[in-house]
Amino acid sequence: MRIYCTKDYDHASRVAANIVSAQIIMKPDCVLGLATGATPIGMYEQLVRWYEKGDLDFSAVRSVNLDEYRGLPQEDVHSYRYFMDTHLFDRVNIDKRNTYVPDGMEEDAEAACRKYNDVIRMLGGIDLQVLGLGHNGHIGFNEPGGAFEKETHCVTLSESTIRANARFFDSEADVPRQACTMGIKNIMQAKKIVVIVCGESKREIVRRSFCGEITPEVPASVLQLHNDVTLVGDEAALQDWEKGI
Ligand code: F6R
Repeated sequence: MRIYCTKDYDHASRVAANIVSAQIIMKPDCVLGLATGATPIGMYEQLVRWYEKGDLDFSAVRSVNLDEYRGLPQEDVHSYRYFMDTHLFDRVNIDKRNTYVPDGMEEDAEAACRKYNDVIRMLGGIDLQVLGLGHNGHIGFNEPGGAFEKETHCVTLSESTIRANARFFDSEADVPRQACTMGIKNIMQAKKIVVIVCGESKREIVRRSFCGEITPEVPASVLQLHNDVTLVGDEAALQDWEKGI
Protein backbone atom coordinates (compact mmCIF):
# COMPACT_ATOMS: atom_id res chain seq x y z
CA MET A 1 0.00 0.00 0.00
CA ARG A 2 1.22 3.51 -0.83
CA ILE A 3 0.55 6.19 1.75
CA TYR A 4 0.53 9.92 1.16
CA CYS A 5 0.49 11.83 4.41
CA THR A 6 -0.45 15.38 3.45
CA LYS A 7 -0.49 18.49 5.57
CA ASP A 8 -4.20 19.25 5.43
CA TYR A 9 -7.50 18.63 3.63
CA ASP A 10 -6.69 20.83 0.61
CA HIS A 11 -3.37 19.13 0.11
CA ALA A 12 -4.98 15.67 0.39
CA SER A 13 -7.61 16.73 -2.14
CA ARG A 14 -4.93 17.83 -4.61
CA VAL A 15 -3.00 14.58 -4.21
CA ALA A 16 -6.16 12.51 -4.76
CA ALA A 17 -7.08 14.65 -7.78
CA ASN A 18 -3.60 14.06 -9.17
CA ILE A 19 -4.10 10.31 -8.95
CA VAL A 20 -7.47 10.54 -10.72
CA SER A 21 -6.15 12.88 -13.41
CA ALA A 22 -3.13 10.62 -14.03
CA GLN A 23 -5.60 7.79 -14.60
CA ILE A 24 -7.61 9.87 -17.08
CA ILE A 25 -4.48 10.98 -18.95
CA MET A 26 -3.10 7.43 -19.16
CA LYS A 27 -6.45 5.96 -20.24
CA PRO A 28 -8.90 8.61 -21.51
CA ASP A 29 -11.80 6.12 -21.62
CA CYS A 30 -11.10 4.76 -18.15
CA VAL A 31 -13.83 3.63 -15.79
CA LEU A 32 -13.76 5.62 -12.56
CA GLY A 33 -15.49 4.30 -9.46
CA LEU A 34 -16.66 7.40 -7.58
CA ALA A 35 -17.69 8.22 -4.03
CA THR A 36 -19.83 10.90 -2.43
CA GLY A 37 -19.72 12.23 1.15
CA ALA A 38 -17.82 15.23 2.46
CA THR A 39 -14.30 13.92 1.91
CA PRO A 40 -14.02 13.84 -1.90
CA ILE A 41 -15.61 17.27 -2.46
CA GLY A 42 -12.21 19.02 -2.48
CA MET A 43 -10.88 16.47 -4.96
CA TYR A 44 -13.84 17.10 -7.30
CA GLU A 45 -13.27 20.88 -6.98
CA GLN A 46 -9.65 20.41 -8.02
CA LEU A 47 -10.58 18.20 -10.98
CA VAL A 48 -13.07 20.84 -12.15
CA ARG A 49 -10.38 23.55 -11.89
CA TRP A 50 -7.97 21.50 -14.00
CA TYR A 51 -10.74 20.84 -16.53
CA GLU A 52 -11.51 24.58 -16.71
CA LYS A 53 -7.82 25.30 -17.35
CA GLY A 54 -7.91 22.85 -20.25
CA ASP A 55 -5.64 20.31 -18.55
CA LEU A 56 -8.19 17.49 -18.30
CA ASP A 57 -10.61 15.96 -20.77
CA PHE A 58 -13.51 13.88 -19.44
CA SER A 59 -15.18 13.30 -22.82
CA ALA A 60 -14.42 9.57 -22.96
CA VAL A 61 -14.46 8.85 -19.21
CA ARG A 62 -17.05 6.42 -17.86
CA SER A 63 -18.03 6.32 -14.20
CA VAL A 64 -19.87 4.15 -11.73
CA ASN A 65 -20.80 5.46 -8.31
CA LEU A 66 -20.57 3.38 -5.20
CA ASP A 67 -24.03 3.86 -3.82
CA GLU A 68 -27.40 5.58 -3.68
CA TYR A 69 -30.13 5.98 -1.08
CA ARG A 70 -33.31 3.99 -1.61
CA GLY A 71 -36.40 6.09 -2.20
CA LEU A 72 -34.79 9.36 -3.29
CA PRO A 73 -35.44 10.47 -6.87
CA GLN A 74 -32.42 11.66 -8.87
CA GLU A 75 -33.45 15.29 -8.63
CA ASP A 76 -33.68 15.22 -4.82
CA VAL A 77 -30.88 17.41 -3.45
CA HIS A 78 -29.90 14.62 -1.05
CA SER A 79 -29.55 11.94 -3.71
CA TYR A 80 -26.07 10.87 -4.68
CA ARG A 81 -26.92 11.42 -8.36
CA TYR A 82 -27.64 15.07 -7.52
CA PHE A 83 -24.38 15.26 -5.55
CA MET A 84 -22.37 13.95 -8.49
CA ASP A 85 -24.12 16.23 -11.00
CA THR A 86 -23.50 19.33 -8.93
CA HIS A 87 -19.94 18.56 -7.78
CA LEU A 88 -18.60 17.10 -11.01
CA PHE A 89 -20.70 15.87 -13.92
CA ASP A 90 -22.44 19.17 -14.76
CA ARG A 91 -19.14 21.06 -14.48
CA VAL A 92 -16.94 19.03 -16.84
CA ASN A 93 -17.33 17.60 -20.35
CA ILE A 94 -18.21 14.07 -19.26
CA ASP A 95 -21.00 12.45 -21.31
CA LYS A 96 -23.66 11.95 -18.64
CA ARG A 97 -24.97 8.90 -20.48
CA ASN A 98 -21.68 7.27 -19.43
CA THR A 99 -22.18 8.04 -15.75
CA TYR A 100 -23.91 5.44 -13.61
CA VAL A 101 -25.36 5.69 -10.11
CA PRO A 102 -27.49 2.86 -8.64
CA ASP A 103 -31.22 3.42 -9.14
CA GLY A 104 -32.68 4.01 -5.69
CA MET A 105 -36.22 4.34 -7.06
CA GLU A 106 -36.54 0.98 -8.81
CA GLU A 107 -39.27 -0.91 -6.96
CA ASP A 108 -37.60 -4.22 -7.48
CA ALA A 109 -34.43 -3.50 -5.53
CA GLU A 110 -32.89 -6.89 -6.29
CA ALA A 111 -33.36 -6.31 -10.03
CA ALA A 112 -31.80 -2.84 -9.73
CA CYS A 113 -28.74 -4.35 -8.03
CA ARG A 114 -28.42 -7.10 -10.64
CA LYS A 115 -28.64 -4.47 -13.39
CA TYR A 116 -25.89 -2.46 -11.72
CA ASN A 117 -23.56 -5.46 -11.60
CA ASP A 118 -24.24 -5.97 -15.31
CA VAL A 119 -23.34 -2.33 -15.98
CA ILE A 120 -20.00 -2.73 -14.17
CA ARG A 121 -19.28 -5.89 -16.18
CA MET A 122 -20.40 -4.25 -19.45
CA LEU A 123 -17.93 -1.41 -18.79
CA GLY A 124 -15.14 -3.97 -18.34
CA GLY A 125 -14.67 -3.36 -14.62
CA ILE A 126 -13.35 -0.39 -12.68
CA ASP A 127 -9.90 1.04 -13.42
CA LEU A 128 -9.67 3.31 -10.38
CA GLN A 129 -12.04 3.26 -7.43
CA VAL A 130 -12.17 6.30 -5.13
CA LEU A 131 -13.27 5.58 -1.56
CA GLY A 132 -14.01 7.52 1.59
CA LEU A 133 -14.09 5.73 4.94
CA GLY A 134 -17.01 5.66 7.38
CA HIS A 135 -16.33 6.03 11.10
CA ASN A 136 -17.48 2.45 11.56
CA GLY A 137 -15.18 1.21 8.78
CA HIS A 138 -17.80 1.10 6.05
CA ILE A 139 -16.79 1.55 2.43
CA GLY A 140 -19.62 2.36 0.08
CA PHE A 141 -22.53 1.41 2.33
CA ASN A 142 -21.01 -1.95 3.24
CA GLU A 143 -21.71 -1.85 6.93
CA PRO A 144 -19.90 -3.90 9.62
CA GLY A 145 -20.78 -7.59 9.58
CA GLY A 146 -21.66 -7.87 5.88
CA ALA A 147 -20.09 -10.59 3.75
CA PHE A 148 -16.98 -9.76 1.72
CA GLU A 149 -18.36 -11.84 -1.21
CA LYS A 150 -21.30 -9.55 -1.97
CA GLU A 151 -21.77 -7.62 -5.20
CA THR A 152 -24.22 -4.71 -5.50
CA HIS A 153 -26.99 -5.18 -2.93
CA CYS A 154 -29.46 -3.34 -0.73
CA VAL A 155 -28.56 -2.54 2.84
CA THR A 156 -30.20 -1.20 5.94
CA LEU A 157 -28.00 1.58 7.22
CA SER A 158 -26.52 1.24 10.69
CA GLU A 159 -27.50 3.69 13.43
CA SER A 160 -24.00 5.20 13.37
CA THR A 161 -24.17 5.82 9.61
CA ILE A 162 -27.63 7.40 9.93
CA ARG A 163 -26.28 9.67 12.68
CA ALA A 164 -23.16 10.52 10.66
CA ASN A 165 -25.15 11.35 7.51
CA ALA A 166 -27.77 13.40 9.34
CA ARG A 167 -25.45 16.43 8.86
CA PHE A 168 -26.49 16.46 5.18
CA PHE A 169 -30.24 16.47 5.99
CA ASP A 170 -32.56 18.74 7.99
CA SER A 171 -32.89 16.09 10.69
CA GLU A 172 -31.85 12.53 11.48
CA ALA A 173 -35.43 11.40 10.78
CA ASP A 174 -35.05 12.49 7.15
CA VAL A 175 -32.07 10.21 6.44
CA PRO A 176 -33.25 7.25 4.31
CA ARG A 177 -32.88 3.96 6.17
CA GLN A 178 -31.91 1.92 3.15
CA ALA A 179 -29.43 2.19 0.33
CA CYS A 180 -28.19 0.31 -2.66
CA THR A 181 -24.41 -0.18 -2.65
CA MET A 182 -21.69 -1.84 -4.65
CA GLY A 183 -20.48 -4.80 -2.65
CA ILE A 184 -16.99 -5.45 -1.33
CA LYS A 185 -16.50 -7.87 -4.22
CA ASN A 186 -17.10 -5.12 -6.82
CA ILE A 187 -14.73 -2.80 -4.97
CA MET A 188 -12.00 -5.42 -4.59
CA GLN A 189 -12.20 -6.18 -8.33
CA ALA A 190 -11.19 -2.59 -9.17
CA LYS A 191 -7.69 -2.50 -10.64
CA LYS A 192 -6.61 0.38 -8.40
CA ILE A 193 -8.11 1.92 -5.30
CA VAL A 194 -7.50 5.29 -3.68
CA VAL A 195 -8.87 5.88 -0.18
CA ILE A 196 -9.10 9.44 1.13
CA VAL A 197 -9.23 10.03 4.88
CA CYS A 198 -9.16 13.39 6.60
CA GLY A 199 -9.60 14.68 10.11
CA GLU A 200 -8.90 13.52 13.63
CA SER A 201 -12.29 11.75 13.77
CA LYS A 202 -11.04 9.20 11.20
CA ARG A 203 -7.79 8.46 13.04
CA GLU A 204 -8.98 5.43 15.03
CA ILE A 205 -10.82 3.76 12.15
CA VAL A 206 -7.83 4.29 9.83
CA ARG A 207 -5.68 2.42 12.32
CA ARG A 208 -8.22 -0.40 12.72
CA SER A 209 -8.78 -0.66 8.96
CA PHE A 210 -5.21 -0.75 7.76
CA CYS A 211 -3.27 -2.13 10.71
CA GLY A 212 -5.84 -4.29 12.47
CA GLU A 213 -7.36 -7.69 11.88
CA ILE A 214 -9.01 -8.31 8.50
CA THR A 215 -12.61 -8.85 9.47
CA PRO A 216 -16.13 -8.11 8.14
CA GLU A 217 -16.63 -6.19 11.40
CA VAL A 218 -14.33 -3.54 9.86
CA PRO A 219 -15.29 -3.70 6.17
CA ALA A 220 -12.39 -1.48 4.99
CA SER A 221 -9.89 -3.95 6.50
CA VAL A 222 -10.42 -6.11 3.41
CA LEU A 223 -8.45 -3.49 1.47
CA GLN A 224 -5.30 -4.90 3.07
CA LEU A 225 -5.76 -7.81 0.64
CA HIS A 226 -5.84 -5.63 -2.50
CA ASN A 227 -2.57 -5.25 -4.37
CA ASP A 228 -2.92 -1.64 -5.50
CA VAL A 229 -4.27 0.61 -2.76
CA THR A 230 -3.18 4.20 -2.18
CA LEU A 231 -4.14 5.83 1.09
CA VAL A 232 -4.25 9.63 0.95
CA GLY A 233 -4.78 11.36 4.26
CA ASP A 234 -4.04 14.47 6.23
CA GLU A 235 -1.80 14.52 9.29
CA ALA A 236 -4.79 14.41 11.65
CA ALA A 237 -6.10 11.13 10.23
CA LEU A 238 -2.68 9.56 9.73
CA GLN A 239 -0.96 10.68 12.92
CA ASP A 240 -0.70 7.14 14.32
CA TRP A 241 0.96 6.16 11.10
CA GLU A 242 3.51 8.91 11.42
CA LYS A 243 4.33 7.61 14.88
CA GLY A 244 4.88 4.14 13.43
CA ILE A 245 1.55 2.88 14.86
C1 F6R B 1 -20.09 7.68 -0.16
C2 F6R B 1 -19.81 6.46 0.56
C3 F6R B 1 -19.44 6.45 2.00
C4 F6R B 1 -18.53 7.60 2.44
C5 F6R B 1 -18.22 7.49 3.92
C6 F6R B 1 -17.36 8.65 4.40
O1 F6R B 1 -20.44 7.38 -1.51
O2 F6R B 1 -19.93 5.45 -0.01
O3 F6R B 1 -18.80 5.23 2.28
O4 F6R B 1 -17.35 7.56 1.69
O5 F6R B 1 -19.40 7.48 4.66
O6 F6R B 1 -18.10 9.84 4.30
P1 F6R B 1 -17.47 11.25 4.58
O7 F6R B 1 -16.51 11.51 3.47
O8 F6R B 1 -18.62 12.20 4.55
O9 F6R B 1 -16.79 11.17 5.91
